[in-house]
Amino acid sequence: MTTTPTPLRLDPSSYRRDDWQRGYQSQRQESAQWLSEDAIEGTIPPELNGTFFRNGPGLLDIGGTPIAHPFDGDGMINAIALTNGRAHFQNRYVRTAGFVAEQNAGKLLYRGVFGTQKPGGWLANIFDTNFKNIANTNVIYWGGKLLALWEGSQPHRLDPKTLETISLEDLDGTLAPGEAFAAHPRVDPACAADGGQPCLVNFGVKAGLSSTIHTFEFAPDGTLLRRHARSIPGFAFMHDMAITPRYSVFCQNPVTFNPLPMLLGFSGAGACIKFDPKSPTKIYLLPRDGGELEIYETDPCFIFHHANAYESGEEMILDSICYANFPTVEENTSYLDVDFDALPPGELWRFRINRSTGQVRRTVLESRCCEFPSLHPDRVGRPYRYLYSGAAAQPSGNAPLQAVIKLDLEADSTPSDRQIYSVAPRGFTGEPVFVPRPGGTAEDDGWLLLLVYESAQHRSSLHILKAQDIEAGPIAKLNLPYHIPYGLHGSFTPEVFIPAS
Ligand code: CO
Repeated sequence: MTTTPTPLRLDPSSYRRDDWQRGYQSQRQESAQWLSEDAIEGTIPPELNGTFFRNGPGLLDIGGTPIAHPFDGDGMINAIALTNGRAHFQNRYVRTAGFVAEQNAGKLLYRGVFGTQKPGGWLANIFDTNFKNIANTNVIYWGGKLLALWEGSQPHRLDPKTLETISLEDLDGTLAPGEAFAAHPRVDPACAADGGQPCLVNFGVKAGLSSTIHTFEFAPDGTLLRRHARSIPGFAFMHDMAITPRYSVFCQNPVTFNPLPMLLGFSGAGACIKFDPKSPTKIYLLPRDGGELEIYETDPCFIFHHANAYESGEEMILDSICYANFPTVEENTSYLDVDFDALPPGELWRFRINRSTGQVRRTVLESRCCEFPSLHPDRVGRPYRYLYSGAAAQPSGNAPLQAVIKLDLEADSTPSDRQIYSVAPRGFTGEPVFVPRPGGTAEDDGWLLLLVYESAQHRSSLHILKAQDIEAGPIAKLNLPYHIPYGLHGSFTPEVFIPAS
């Protein structure tokens, strides 16, 4: 009897680097169109109606000059409106002042926070801290306004039907010119202070030798309900926040910031941030009613995104995607050539903050490389069972996101507690957005909307998954006319926005 030997897998990689790199080609087209029946595989659920907005860097070069990091790329909004089983797609750049000026000039005019330098070396960049508001990180519809968000400055307001840029937005005088407004608002689904109405909670950080966290809360009609400002010691790099009914929760990553190389023109602000493995990560609980903040410490780690937080007796539970250290923005190395193996993978960690003893315990809930967590909007700030996240196709190590993972956080830890939907080897994923099924009651009764870059066809598609069974694969796949470079964050609104024809 002969047996076929299992070939040794010398290359465990789930992807080809050139496939992954093509997802970072600039997209210069803008269009608005109904997707033809040929472009839709499967069936869009007729009850799934609304608009999926998504933001991300669309230009990875300015007039042929590559930018240094995708985080410096101009924001391009995609909108996919779903109505009675049909789908309308459009994409459009946010007409920021910097975008318009650079496109008119046909060349790079601004420095980027993440290292993009104007040509001409340090002399051209010295003392130039006039960074471009690139409006590229998130997009939300709130209070009748569609807002493109970038944490360094004010949002841009867009027309939700056409995606045309209306203006910089100060939210009815709430924001001063240039004031920071983060790209990570959270919606409290039932705000006790407002009679159970939902409210939008967001923040802005003014970072320096000491930093100030501004928090803002807005009613569904956009009216400002509450705002508070708190000073914290040290430089704060805070990209995200979690909320509970009573608190907003922040992590201060243990980083130091030396602005000198940036001011002197040698490097971008991102490269001036250094991880300090000797300092703790600090966790701040800010009472949303304006009360005194509480500070806790845990071992150093780096966090961009929180999954969720909730209170449980004496404890505050905080689930976050953690990195063992901060991947310093390397100068002179293209992000396209990044050595994934040299960087720590993002992992889902749970922090249990005991508010009477001050102790913080932490456990790893998921060690598979993951990023961009999302959950049922009604569970934000509450105990929850299901978490969805972009994930690597391979179970260990760092790699591009090529899958979505669904975790059952109430079950004991066995492989059956996770479901994985993978588009490897030639597909690449990002943030899944959960949309509840109208009338559904189970926490996972709904759909995941997932934009996938299909390198084999060099275009993107929207995969619609039934959240209760993501391993069954998409119930509908909407093939878009061209590729969307890897994006950041998005949101869904039940309102259907389509340009007038
Ligand atoms: Co983010």
